[in-house]
Amino acid sequence: MDKIVIKGPNQLKGSVQMSGAKNAVLPIMAATLLASGKFEIRNVPNLRDVKTMAHLLRIIGAQVEYSDHKLRIDSSNCNFFEAPYELVKTMRASVYVLGPLLARFAKAKVSLPGGCAIGTRPVDLHIRGLQQLGANIELKHGYMVGTAEKLRGAHINFDISSVGATGNILMAAVLSDGRTVIENAAREPEITNLAKFLQKMGAEIEGVGTSQLQIHGVKELSPVDFDIIPDRIEAATFLLAAAISSGEIVLNSVDAAHVGSLIAKLREAGVYVEEGQTSIFCKSPERIKPVNITTAPYPGFPTDLQAQWMALMCLAHGSSVIRDNIFVDRFTHVAELRRLGAQIELSENVAVVKGVPNFNGASLMSTDLRASASLILAGLAARGRTEVLRVYHIDRGYETIEKKLENLGADIWREEGSY
Ligand code: EPZ
Repeated sequence: MDKIVIKGPNQLKGSVQMSGAKNAVLPIMAATLLASGKFEIRNVPNLRDVKTMAHLLRIIGAQVEYSDHKLRIDSSNCNFFEAPYELVKTMRASVYVLGPLLARFAKAKVSLPGGCAIGTRPVDLHIRGLQQLGANIELKHGYMVGTAEKLRGAHINFDISSVGATGNILMAAVLSDGRTVIENAAREPEITNLAKFLQKMGAEIEGVGTSQLQIHGVKELSPVDFDIIPDRIEAATFLLAAAISSGEIVLNSVDAAHVGSLIAKLREAGVYVEEGQTSIFCKSPERIKPVNITTAPYPGFPTDLQAQWMALMCLAHGSSVIRDNIFVDRFTHVAELRRLGAQIELSENVAVVKGVPNFNGASLMSTDLRASASLILAGLAARGRTEVLRVYHIDRGYETIEKKLENLGADIWREEGSY
């Protein structure tokens, strides 16, 4: 496992191109199982998770090629309707094949997920929604074993707004008989991108982008070409990199509307942000003001930015409160930030951060994707050498992050080896 080394402090300057959205391309790759034929998907980021999903689709029988940020998928010869534990344990999003397999092939055997270490992450909403559509799902030896004579429309009401469950049920409903209504559906831009992909394939979906989706099942869908939206979490992470390094950068290939909640908080913290059509300009002041955040479903402040925001608040001039209401134990980055000199009091899902004047570099261990990003941001600001170990976590969700930061002037490099 490689490590990323940073010699700080750095001040970022320049412009950087964002990649396609990981959390849009993963369900869209699963959705190719819903129709037979050849797809071309563009603006696909070169990430570990994309490789993992491609591997899963090949196990199921699809042909998958990736080159030059394009995926070519041929789902004509799918013949094995299983997602094995060895693969699902490395990426929770593998569960996205459950709905499509039941909808098109009427059977599926998918391991219960593992994924990154953000506490217990149940799939009860996925299972209950599919059962309401008429699937018969049993839990056997750590697997969800599903069969479905013919899925039929239902009125589904999620008591929690779940991105994954919304995606899975949406993909199952588009080939179900009759009308399905999903209440309290996730409104994340990645789900909107999935819904537009399905509509282009011939699905009949109303209410896209709202918390109530109405689906009229169709008999068959067709393969299409499609463009993935920019990655809003990558964009937000780079805005925070500029803020924590008192930098001045331009992000290209972004949709500023998708990062509105972060931009509002950055402005409150004293950062100058200017939104363009497909770009964002950001200039950070010397002094960052402390600003509280509470995570919420889109368009609220994303839980996927909680760790990165905390890194910035550790160096703010004053105290702030950070509350994660989505994943209440997503705080593995706290112990690592403390190693740099951070002052953080944690109680359940609430962290009180007391700003300190600076960080001193240290060796840090990354544990999950967004915690790793938080540690890299902190390393940019820290004085001296910071090493972030086990960076395969960060490679799951950020395309060549160290090269992009280096092009913005950071003194950062990757060392290969078993760290
Ligand atoms: C998606 O995960 C994202 N992953 C996560 O990003 C993101 O943090 C999360 O949504 C929240 O925005 C992908 O899109 C691949 P949820 P998901 O279902 O779908 C509870 C990253 O860093 N819940 O929206 O797994 C759950 O425990 C990753 O890119 C149930 O109770 O998240 C959580 O408290 C990390 N039962 C809440 O809902 C269920 O059946 C929201 O989770 C499903 C979820």
